[in-house]
Parts: sequence; C-alpha cells; structure tokens
Amino acid sequence: MPSSNTTDSPLKKPVTVSSLQDMKQAGDKFVVLTAYDASFAAILERAGVEVLLVGDSLGMVMQGNTTTVPVTMDQMVYHTKCVSVASGNALVMADMPFMSFPDPVRALDNAARLMQQGGAHMVKLEGGAHVTGIVENLAKHDIPVCAHLGLRPQAVHKLGGYRVQGRDSAAAEAMLKDAMAMQQAGADLLVLECIPSALAKRITESLSIPTIGIGAGRDCDAQVLVLYDVLGISVGHQPRFAHNFLADLEPGDVSIESAVRAYVRAVKAKQFPTDEHTFK
Ligand code: KIV
Repeated sequence: MPSSNTTDSPLKKPVTVSSLQDMKQAGDKFVVLTAYDASFAAILERAGVEVLLVGDSLGMVMQGNTTTVPVTMDQMVYHTKCVSVASGNALVMADMPFMSFPDPVRALDNAARLMQQGGAHMVKLEGGAHVTGIVENLAKHDIPVCAHLGLRPQAVHKLGGYRVQGRDSAAAEAMLKDAMAMQQAGADLLVLECIPSALAKRITESLSIPTIGIGAGRDCDAQVLVLYDVLGISVGHQPRFAHNFLADLEPGDVSIESAVRAYVRAVKAKQFPTDEHTFK
C-alpha cells in the first residue's frame, strides 16, 4: 500500500515555490522526478525527491505512444490525483497537456482542474513568448507556474523531431529573451530541456527564478528525469541525458528506492549530470 505518512519523508517541511527559491539563493540543488501513480509517489517522497512531476511523458512511458500529443486533460487529472494522494511534503507539479492552454480562459479552467480535482500545487506548460499572456493570467489567479523552454515535446511535429534546441546564436538569444519573458509574466520555475550547457548556465544566471535542467548541463538549479529512465525500464531509444541509476547499484542493495536515492544524492552532490549526459 502506498503511504502518504509524512513521518516517512526526509522532507521535514512542505516544499513550496518559496523554499525552492531559497535553495537557489543558497546554491543548493533540488531534485525533480516524474511520478504517475501513488506507489511510486510514496517511494520518491521517501527517497527525498522534492518535486514530483506528473509529466505528460506518461503518454509515452505508460501509454506506449511515440509522442506526448495524445495525452488528455482527463488523463492528467487522474494521474495527478493518484500522485497527490500519496505525497506528503513533496511539491506536486502537473503538466498541462497538448491543446489544454490555447487561450488564457481555457488555460485557467484546466489549471484549476489540475489543482482542485488533481491536487496539484503547481502546473507546468510548454512554450515561449506566445504563452506569456497565459502565464500572466494564471499567475494573476495565484496559480504557481513552471514554464518549459528548449525542446518542447508537445511541439515535436513542428520541430521535426526530438532535437537539441538553441544551438545557433540567434536561437540562443531568442531563448534567453523567452526565459526573461516567462519570469516577467510571473512564472515561478523554468524547465530547460535539451539545450547546450553554456546556454542553460547563462539563462540560470540571468534569472531570479530556479531553472530545472534535463539534458541542459549541470549548472541549472535543479535536475529532472523521467522515472522510467532512472529505473532503466523505458522502451526504445534512450536520450543522451537519461541515466539508469538502478544498474549502478551494488549487489545486495538493489531496489527502486535505492536507485531513486542514488539519483537524489548524485544531483545534490553535483555529480549528475556528467559531460556524457550533456550537449555542447
Ligand atoms: O513530461 C515530462 O516528463 C516532462 C519532463 C521530461 C521535463 O516534461
């Protein structure tokens, strides 16, 4: 049975957007990992993961689709609820799926569903300058927002594949501008996916809000991975930034919780990601 008993949790106080902000100021890395159900949420919390991301990556790792595009709002609400019932002090962040934020009004309704029906503490949405008005409206209604720049998996058909973003100087400057616009619009966190490490460093140093990297080098304020990659159970092509922490464990200590603990320790000690997980 999953346990939501917070006494099991090494997180002694509820994780909030302001405690994450304090960690950035102090130079302490925080750890984000995807969770889609109650049993894994309880394990991640016991292992010390500060932010449980109910990612729309569930469309790929749970549903077997080749992209996140088919994921619906109803599915996101369902999985967010499964995670939030088992979380104790961790912050639960839920992805807004493809086409759930086409305008500020529908975005507000859908973000409210993720919080009221799903129990999320915060929502995440992909996009740059074109979603500024949406982020502003959510922030105005006291909804904590994590923006997501770089490789935006929901835009895979427009981008022409899962490719590193921001490699040339024009694209890098545009991403820095988008990052500033997200912060200005009221975003509390920013995911940077699959971008050169030097650009992620520059964006992280330019912003007061924390950045969360995935394939974005070691200089972001936090790291996120897909849980199934950490456990080595994802099917098909493994991205360069993925790492199987279960495979690294010593015989005699091989468990899901130990693998997640190893990920947490490696991020906090700035030992993950390494150059082999990073793009230049
Ligand atoms: O959906 C997801 O899991 C994500 C992370 C990979 C950042 O957006």
